[in-house]
Amino acid sequence: MKKTVHVDLGSRSYEIVIAPELIQNSRTYLEPIIEGKRVAVVSDPWVSRNYQELLKNTLDPITSRWDLYLIQEGEDAKSFGCLEGLLDKMLADGIDRQCLVIAFGGGVVGDVAGFAAALLMRGIELIQIPTTLMSQVDSSVGGKNAINTRQGKNLVGSFLQPKIVLNDVSILSSLPANEMKSGYGEILKYGLLRGDKEFVWMEKNLSAIMNHDRDALVEVIRMGCETKASIVSEDERDKGKRALVNLGHTFAHAFETFAGFGRFQHGLSVGLGVIAAGLLSEKTGFCPEGITDRVKKHADDAGMPISLQSLHSETTWIKEELYQKMMHDKKTVNGRINFVLLEELGKPFVCNTVCKEMVLETLAEIGAV
Ligand SMILES: NC(=O)c1ccc[n+]([C@@H]2O[C@H](COP(=O)([O-])OP(=O)(O)OC[C@H]3O[C@@H](n4cnc5c(N)ncnc54)[C@H](O)[C@@H]3O)[C@@H](O)[C@H]2O)c1
Ligand SMILES: [Zn+2]
Repeated sequence: MKKTVHVDLGSRSYEIVIAPELIQNSRTYLEPIIEGKRVAVVSDPWVSRNYQELLKNTLDPITSRWDLYLIQEGEDAKSFGCLEGLLDKMLADGIDRQCLVIAFGGGVVGDVAGFAAALLMRGIELIQIPTTLMSQVDSSVGGKNAINTRQGKNLVGSFLQPKIVLNDVSILSSLPANEMKSGYGEILKYGLLRGDKEFVWMEKNLSAIMNHDRDALVEVIRMGCETKASIVSEDERDKGKRALVNLGHTFAHAFETFAGFGRFQHGLSVGLGVIAAGLLSEKTGFCPEGITDRVKKHADDAGMPISLQSLHSETTWIKEELYQKMMHDKKTVNGRINFVLLEELGKPFVCNTVCKEMVLETLAEIGAV
């Protein structure tokens, strides 16, 4: 089974291909783009150790030369130091305007490689071959990349759309359960953005997805990519509608900054953030009661945290301090916090008039003191 999602961005349009065993069968997709050019593959040690061979067999016959550049595993790689080291090595090797970068790894690799490609010669071509569920449904779609600074996460970055995204679902079979759940946090978000039909499908297919059933994975990744692609097509530069893909993220970012980055996976925080956004939508009267219970049950069935304690038991979650984190979120404007709320499944909207009391009550309901 193979699915393709078209990302419609005029001259920067591209395809996302989703299929099992795609990397070893990717020559038909890569050859027209690479056309004998020199390629820089950026990856992390784990991914390259386990999967480099798959890519090698495709790249050897269609490139003039390709080199592997490794960045360290984990969020710490999204730093000025690591980016500088990578650029330095690439330039010392004589990478020029004609070369092309392949990001081969999870969201961290995608962000660092994407930013490096955007900076080299003011922008060289990029191909994304994401290897985690999170990067297949979210970070490889839409052209954003970023590194972290001491002031916060993803504060320095750029936009660079890839030439193609290859989502090989077979590669997800080695992904640890927590990384699957993390990716599923973003999928949960897409299900709520889409509507009842998609959500019912997710309820029926949850165990197939979590057990790496290939057809279920292709379908759910298509749904996620299509949702993000259609929003990005309307608002590539994040001036308005793209805010909707941040459903649950105002809460999630507050949980992450409060507890400290790296304590738990981003997508787990998003899953709980989506539940909180649902509760807040009900509390403010925008959304009929009951929807959040359904979302909560689904997240629970997926084995995802449904309270702050289950997200991170060692943290004492203080609602007032979490609220202050939201006030300092980069999406907060003039002291007004932007929340994505729901009128019902499939009807999200941005609201910046929520009163503090309701936010604090919502935080208390998910376990903050
Ligand atoms: N640019 C965007 O639009 C965007 C969107 C969402 C998230 N992100 C970023 O993505 C990052 C998170 O990405 P992530 O969740 O993929 O984490 P990650 O890139 O850190 O990968 C998680 C771990 O999984 C390992 N791994 C990768 N592929 C594997 C596989 N197939 N089998 C087993 N292990 C594998 C990696 O080596 C790593 O240790 C964050 O930094 C986040 O800010 C960016
Ligand atoms: Zn996210």
